[in-house]
Amino acid sequence: MAKILGGITTSHIPAVGNAIQQELYDDPYWKPFFDGYPKVHQWIKDNKPDVVVNIYNDHGLGFFLDQMPTFAIGAAHEYKNEDEGWGLPELDPFPGHPELSWHIIESMVSDEFDITSCQELPVDHGFVVPMQLFWPGAPHNEDMPKAIPISANTVQHPIPTLKRALDFGKALRRGIESFPEDLKVVVLGTGGLSHQLDGERAGFINKEFDQYCLNNIAHNPEELTKITRMELVEKAGAQGTEFLMWMMMRGALGDNVTEVTRNYHIPISNTGAGTLLLECA
Ligand code: DHB
Ligand code: FE
Repeated sequence: MAKILGGITTSHIPAVGNAIQQELYDDPYWKPFFDGYPKVHQWIKDNKPDVVVNIYNDHGLGFFLDQMPTFAIGAAHEYKNEDEGWGLPELDPFPGHPELSWHIIESMVSDEFDITSCQELPVDHGFVVPMQLFWPGAPHNEDMPKAIPISANTVQHPIPTLKRALDFGKALRRGIESFPEDLKVVVLGTGGLSHQLDGERAGFINKEFDQYCLNNIAHNPEELTKITRMELVEKAGAQGTEFLMWMMMRGALGDNVTEVTRNYHIPISNTGAGTLLLECA
C-alpha cells in the first residue's frame, strides 16, 4: 500500500526562484533563508519518496478569475511551467503519476469532496519554486519523485475555510493510503506565511501570527480551524491565506507527527518565509 512519510512546507516566493538561478545561497540577504533547507535535503536523501503531492495555489497561470476551481487535482503524465513574467526559467516537464492521481480523485469524490480533475495543468511558481528548493536542479535531480499537483483557490473569494482545508487533507490521506502499490509519498504545503502584496496594507507581515501557526500546526491543527477566513486575511494578509495549503498538507499526515526541522525568516521579498518538515509516526 502507498504510505505517507511526512509533509514539508515552504514559502514559494518567485524571488527565491531568481535567487536559485543566481546561486545566491551565501549572500547575506539570502543565507538565513537557504540555511533552512539542508536538513530537508538530508531527510529526502534518507527517505527517497517515490511521489510528491505538491499542494499549492495557482496564481493565474493554470486558472484565471473566469474559471476558479476550489480544489483541483492534476491527472496528467507531465506538468510544465510557463513564463509568468517573474523572470523565472521555463523548465523541462515534471513527470506525473496519473494512476495515483485518478485513484485519489476517485477516492475523494466518493468521500464527497468535489474535485476538478485536470488532464492538463500548467504549473506556476507556487509549484515549481518549492520543487527547486527541495530537489536542487529539479526536475533533473536523481531523487526527483513523480509529481501530483493539487491547487486550491486562495485568489478569489469565497476561499475554503481552514477546517475544510484540514478535512481535505484527511480525505487525501485516505485516498493515498488505499492505493495498492507500495509507494512512499511526501506531501508539500506551499505558500505563506504572512504577506500582502497589494492595497493599503501592501508589505504587511505578522511575525506573531506566523509563530502561532508554526507552533500549533504539528500537534494542535484543530485549534487553527477556529480561525475564520476574515481573521485569516486580517492576521496573515490578503495573500497569507496561502496558509490554507499548510492545513491541507497537515490533514494528510494523520494524528501523530514529529517535527524534524523548522526555519522562519523575515522578510524574504514581502513575505514571512517559513519552512517546516513533519515526519509521520
Ligand atoms: C510573493 C509571495 C508570493 O506567495 C507570491 O505568490 C508572489 C510574490 C512575494 O513575497 O513577493
Ligand atoms: Fe503565492
